[in-house]
Amino acid sequence: MKGSNSPNIPNSLNEHWMPFTSNKDFKKNPRLIANAKGVYLKAHDGTTLIDGSSGLYCNPLGHGRREIIEAIKNQLEQLDYTMPFQQGYGGSFELATKIAQKTPEDLNRIFYTICGSTAVETAIKIAIAYFKAKGDDKRFRFVGRERGYHGMNIGSLTVGGMINNVKAFTSILMPGVEHMRHTFLPDHKFVKGQPETGAELADDLETIAQKIGGENIAACIVEPIAGSTGTLIPPKGYLQRLKKICDKHGILLIFDEVVTGWGRTGSAFAAQEFGVTPDIMTMAKATTNGIVPMGVVAVRESIYEEVMSATPDGGIELFHGYTYSGIPVAVSAALAVQKIFEEEDIFNKVKSMRDYFQEGLHSLKDLECVESIRGYGLLGGIDIKMKDKPGKAGYDVYKKCFKAGVNIKPTGDALIIAPPFVCERKHIDEIINKLRTGISNHQKSK
Ligand SMILES: Cc1ncc(COP(=O)(O)O)c(C=O)c1O
Repeated sequence: MKGSNSPNIPNSLNEHWMPFTSNKDFKKNPRLIANAKGVYLKAHDGTTLIDGSSGLYCNPLGHGRREIIEAIKNQLEQLDYTMPFQQGYGGSFELATKIAQKTPEDLNRIFYTICGSTAVETAIKIAIAYFKAKGDDKRFRFVGRERGYHGMNIGSLTVGGMINNVKAFTSILMPGVEHMRHTFLPDHKFVKGQPETGAELADDLETIAQKIGGENIAACIVEPIAGSTGTLIPPKGYLQRLKKICDKHGILLIFDEVVTGWGRTGSAFAAQEFGVTPDIMTMAKATTNGIVPMGVVAVRESIYEEVMSATPDGGIELFHGYTYSGIPVAVSAALAVQKIFEEEDIFNKVKSMRDYFQEGLHSLKDLECVESIRGYGLLGGIDIKMKDKPGKAGYDVYKKCFKAGVNIKPTGDALIIAPPFVCERKHIDEIINKLRTGISNHQKSK
């Protein structure tokens, strides 16, 4: 397939096999982003879009931030790469200290990965390494949750619970994984914030513990807010109940904060927002404002100490790591991001904007094809009524929204809206108005 003669479309679109994309459809009608500044994107045909999804939730500080670009440039001039095994460089330690200052309680030991998937994979391995160090070899089982998304490597895929992602790969999944039910109940359809009902769904962990033996379960992993499935908000008391059951059985609780981490709820982490501290926490995306890949795992000091103490001095305590773990270019971006978080009081900015955004989101309730609206902080999910087959309506609304000038993320028939934290009220209005146009145009085309 040939691209058009537009200077912004390459001559051939054939070779690039695009991820999570309808490749055939895309290559007939490409949507290429040529330019991005602040909260706006420019498509190859000159259309301007407001970035209603912060890229893939990962550019909350907006695009083209000079401070981050300059920090990366300076870092590259000084030190472009250094091997992260058995040697290091100052920046990664400085960043770890900064991250540890913002994580809850004693989640103060920081392991760097490449992305969200590798952060989850690492969390799984650290849980196993911890129990092994304690001499407990039988705890190898993990519990995830339906409609969870934790990434695309085998471990993260297995603990996740989104059917389409798993069904082609069931033969190679990690053994010993169980799933709790998801938390979305029929009476949550248009609930603002945390639903009042459904805390008892946490008891699924107790049921699983009774079935396979709580003493065999290494960890339970959940996203505090399930993001990629379309934004499912935890019922009031749910996370507290989950933590209690974990503690009763000695199961580690892992919060995957790849989406919720770094301010999306209005607190640095959803753990603080909901008042529940896990034992291990993953983050990625906003860590570098999405500009350089980076994942992070924050671990309780006691877990780190246990793993350290199991190996004699001079030995490698954890046989795990990546060529790109905490490399200078990623660290320099993350340090610049931390500075912006502090100087612009970003988490409080989210707090001051979140009610306005949620009101706007729920104002779309009158649209006939809108089946459910949910949200918390600067994160929202809208379900569109299914048309013919799952996913068709969501994809159509996404394309119509793109045409209307707002970029959002569809998953099946759910739309995910995650505005940048630097949005002002007028930007929120623009996102909501353009969403209304896109969804209405979908309705009309029925
Ligand atoms: C909660 C969560 N965990 C993990 C991941 C995987 O991150 P990555 O795509 O960077 O591997 C994602 C990606 O969206 C996510 O939303």
